[in-house]
Amino acid sequence: MSSLTLDKRLYNEDIKVSLAHIKMLASAELVTAAEAKTISAALLTIKQEIENDDLLFLASDEDIHMAIERVLIDKVGDVGGKLHTARSRNDQVVTDVRLFLKKAIMQIGQNIAGLQETLLSLAEQNQDVVLPGYTHLQRAQPISLAHHFLAYLSMLHRDGERLIDCFKETDVMPLGSAALAGTALPIDRDLVAKELGFSAISSNSLDAVSDRDFIIQFLGAAAIVMTHVSRLAEEIIIWSSTEFSFIELDDAFTTGSSIMPQKKNPDVAELVRGKSSRVIANLTGILTLLKGLPLAYNRDLQEDKVFLFDTVDTLYTCLASITGVLATMKVNQNRMGESAGGFSVATDFTDYLVKKGVPFRSAHGIVGRLVKWAIDNRKSLAEIDLDDLRQFDENFEADALALADPHASAASRESAGGTGKKSVEKQLKTAGANLSKFQTWLGQ
Ligand code: ARG
Repeated sequence: MSSLTLDKRLYNEDIKVSLAHIKMLASAELVTAAEAKTISAALLTIKQEIENDDLLFLASDEDIHMAIERVLIDKVGDVGGKLHTARSRNDQVVTDVRLFLKKAIMQIGQNIAGLQETLLSLAEQNQDVVLPGYTHLQRAQPISLAHHFLAYLSMLHRDGERLIDCFKETDVMPLGSAALAGTALPIDRDLVAKELGFSAISSNSLDAVSDRDFIIQFLGAAAIVMTHVSRLAEEIIIWSSTEFSFIELDDAFTTGSSIMPQKKNPDVAELVRGKSSRVIANLTGILTLLKGLPLAYNRDLQEDKVFLFDTVDTLYTCLASITGVLATMKVNQNRMGESAGGFSVATDFTDYLVKKGVPFRSAHGIVGRLVKWAIDNRKSLAEIDLDDLRQFDENFEADALALADPHASAASRESAGGTGKKSVEKQLKTAGANLSKFQTWLGQ
């Protein structure tokens, strides 16, 4: 049962690891400098051949490691057999995977930052646009559109932090653990770690060859990212419906129906929502794979790459796609503003009475009766005059008539983290600073 179709993808990492390993073997005098040179040169040729699609893999190649070693020995003869001195495929494969994941985390991080940039500029442009904030998908209170985008920026900031943690966990080198017990040969693990850019070496050889926590942690972080992105996709889908008409999606991110000419389907957002299930399934997959394994290496571990590669690819594509959807959509500010009016401002009337000393519970009852009366009389809160208001409570004065303005409503909620103007400005600053910090980290 060959795993080559899957792990061929690790050829570059595998060759890097081998180059570092042979360099160390030479410095430890386990091979001669000339032997190391011959092997390194052949490895570089093999890399080139794989990249040019010139290398003939065989059905009998068990995996990428065996394939490369076979070709190496074909090229340089028996001396090629020295490369595998003081190592095993068990420590080799997990070193390859860690190298692969470190790079993938950076690439995914870039896409998260790209999405954050788009959300940040949308938030900056839409500070004065209001829409209804929802609970239970029922209009609740007016909020600024900037505030809504900032909610996703908060989620993505935490996602970025989680990714940084994943990187730290992944940045540990298992090579030198050999099959499971370490080796009696005088190797220098620190030298290899330095050569490969790992910050640390693993501390227990049994753990090192069988540990896949770093993958679980990444898949967990990835599942959270996709859950966030899926919620965003869901909102895009709802907002673009005719019923909402809050946004219009660019044609590049929608498809028409084959039989209904009026339709513009939000397929890309739907696919992002749909693909989140794969990433969640991959997390469940790796946990299930590991939970019954005795120490140390077991061949079951080979399946880790199925979940890992699919997650990396899915995340990478979905983040880029949803960024494209957001960057190109048109916001229907008027429609959002109109929807934010109506009875979403009811809480502002309650707060008004509370400020006049009316206990909140009583104020809630008064405004409840007011809203019912307005509905019965087919009036919006904006159409109610002062006499109407005073029928419900004498504390209402002329300034209460301004309460029906959803802009004023949103702008007034200045509690820390609220949708008020200054609060949103502050959040924008924090989000911008968080993003540059993350981008600095990514540039490392
Ligand atoms: N292809 C294997 C994997 O991905 C490599 C390690 C195999 N080791 C072994 N002793 N059979 O896990």
